[in-house]
Amino acid sequence: MTAQAQSTAETAQWLPVGRLDDIPRLGARVVETAHGPVAVFRNGTDEVFALLDRCPHQGGPLSEGQVHGRLVTCPLHQWNIHLDKGAARAPDVGCVPRFEVRNDDGDLYLNPEPLT
Ligand code: FES
Repeated sequence: MTAQAQSTAETAQWLPVGRLDDIPRLGARVVETAHGPVAVFRNGTDEVFALLDRCPHQGGPLSEGQVHGRLVTCPLHQWNIHLDKGAARAPDVGCVPRFEVRNDDGDLYLNPEPLT
């Protein structure tokens, strides 16, 4: 396999999300994957995080929650979920799968396989 073919194979699994600027600050965009909808968040300092779009409490749509710092507040019952860990902030308990996002000069790509 040539280096170019290998590079193409490596990037083939990544799903295009769009431009960073297409996601409003403190907002999210949803990407459908074989594992379900994944919410790609942009926080106030342009950090990008990706979590399964299902709250660990009762499955609320985290993509519709409020982003603040490195947390998102679920719109259903206001649990706070750490964007970088996928874990609920104590005293709540639970965790949602995380996904890797690559930023290529403002073009975002999602690895559709959850991080372990
Ligand atoms: S479903 Fe998210 S806090 Fe209840």
